[in-house]
Amino acid sequence: MPDRISEDRIVIVAPTGRDAEVLRLVLTHGGLEGAVCVSLRAAIEALDQGAGALLMTEEVLARDAGLLAQWVARQPAWSDLPILLMRSDLAQLDSLTGGGFGPYGNVCLLERPLRSETLLSALDSALRARRRQYQVRSYLVEREQAAAALRELNATLEERVAQAVKEQRQTEAALLQAQKMEALGRLTGGVAHDFNNLLTAVLGNLELLQTRLSSGDQAARRLSEAAIRGIERGSRLTQQLLAFGRKQNLQLRPVDLNEAIRGMSDLLARTLGSTFQVENELAEDLWLAHVDENQLVLVILNLAINARDAMPLGGTVRIRTENVPGADNRHPGDLAPGDFVRISVIDNGIGMDEEVLAKVFEPFFTTKQQGKGTGLGLSQVYGLSKQSGGTVSIESAVGEGTAVHVYLRRADQDAHDGADGSGRHEIAVSVPPDKVVLIADDDAEVRGVFVDYLARLGFRAIEAESGPDALARIYDGERIDLLLADFAMPGMNGAELVRRAREGRPELPVLLVTGYVDDAQLGSLDVEILRKPIRLADLGARVCEMLGSPETRPPIPLDEPSLARRASAD
Ligand SMILES: Nc1ncnc2c1ncn2[C@@H]1O[C@H](COP(=O)(O)OP(=O)(O)OP(=O)(O)O)[C@@H](O)[C@H]1O
Ligand SMILES: [Mg+2]
Repeated sequence: MPDRISEDRIVIVAPTGRDAEVLRLVLTHGGLEGAVCVSLRAAIEALDQGAGALLMTEEVLARDAGLLAQWVARQPAWSDLPILLMRSDLAQLDSLTGGGFGPYGNVCLLERPLRSETLLSALDSALRARRRQYQVRSYLVEREQAAAALRELNATLEERVAQAVKEQRQTEAALLQAQKMEALGRLTGGVAHDFNNLLTAVLGNLELLQTRLSSGDQAARRLSEAAIRGIERGSRLTQQLLAFGRKQNLQLRPVDLNEAIRGMSDLLARTLGSTFQVENELAEDLWLAHVDENQLVLVILNLAINARDAMPLGGTVRIRTENVPGADNRHPGDLAPGDFVRISVIDNGIGMDEEVLAKVFEPFFTTKQQGKGTGLGLSQVYGLSKQSGGTVSIESAVGEGTAVHVYLRRADQDAHDGADGSGRHEIAVSVPPDKVVLIADDDAEVRGVFVDYLARLGFRAIEAESGPDALARIYDGERIDLLLADFAMPGMNGAELVRRAREGRPELPVLLVTGYVDDAQLGSLDVEILRKPIRLADLGARVCEMLGSPETRPPIPLDEPSLARRASAD
């Protein structure tokens, strides 16, 4: 490897006789480094590599003046190389340069014969000038580096600003979406709640009507049964709407999702048909999830049916479970901190484009033919996962398929099974005589049906049209054995009514009949709950159970639409 070239070296071109050798010796003696070149061409190569000055004799200029002028002209901006020209014949030089050295730059003439001290002092001042040029050079380099750094900073600044703007837009879009879903949820929940009251009144009246039909009137019975089936359909619809509005009466409890999924294999096989396969990819050691098991089954069914509909020629629906310890940026942004259990339903069907994806959770959004889809499936999934403390996200690409991920909150480790979980069954009901039931409901039709039905069962039913009205009757000292109250009443809701009533009658049994219950408002109140619209038989059975008496009458048949029937309607 060659030694590093000194930028202070003096390049010497003196081809005649021993000139070059003598000059190099003088330089060495004076502590300077000299590099001897045989021609100006060689010297220019040396200058390109770095030099403090050029020392040359006049005959070199005579021979290659153009070459030197060219090199001088292409020096960088900071450079003005000192050139020391040794001459002995002024006449020859004058004829060559025309008396001026302009094209040769920074030329210093040295007359021969020349004393070595004079030469060394001239070289010394040339080198000092050259070093100042080097300073300018490093200043220029620094400036260029600073400018480059600034340019880079500017470039990344723009990028960073663009990134920040993008994130801001995403946040705004997410916020807008959340607000839209919230507003839709409130609207839907409200409509569903009123609709539920209406269904309750219609159902009750039909049931009462049925009891008045003579046993021979089969046609009238069929008609009323058809009407009741219509109400059941309406009721399923309101349940879906309430689910989306997050106003569902959930029985949240720790559920083993793997077990629930395995338990659905027959139902899924039947629902999807023989051209479909279900592949379970269930994580071992899966945590328990905090969810309503019945609703969970509906969610999985909904998602599997969507997957089926996305694969018209048949295919495989994969159901995967996994633990999600702490939500990070691989998971949806609206997921609260904490541990979750995730169920994914995955297909490789037609997929969805951006436009469809943006709307899928909206109630009644469907791309299916009329009569094929209500557009409530994913709304229900959304509502349930939110109400269970989780969320839902979708990955989808047109022509590639879809994965829907439902995040459910991990159940507390020490949680115990608080739900009754018993399912419905026929119970032997004892109908106690003379017991008084106070019915508090702002809906006169619903109230009327309840009063009529409970009276038929042998109770004395009295009415109140509001919370304060009910309180007045309770505090009037009237005999009241059970309070049957609606939850959502204007002015004072059911929870508030119960709280105030229990101040004077701490042991008063309460049955809340409601389309939905806000757990937060209910707090720790000890009440029984029945969901609207209810079959009168259910209501009667529950009231009798709560007011239990030794006198036993024949069982009142309970008719809960079975899960399979609910599912088959989806
Ligand atoms: N797995 C999927 N692949 C492709 N598109 C899907 C998938 N799941 C949902 N979609 C799209 O989202 C829309 C809404 O789905 P959603 O389940 O809410 O309603 P639906 O299936 O149309 O009706 P239903 O109320 O009977 O479920 C569907 O119409 C379809 O366009
Ligand atoms: Mg669907």
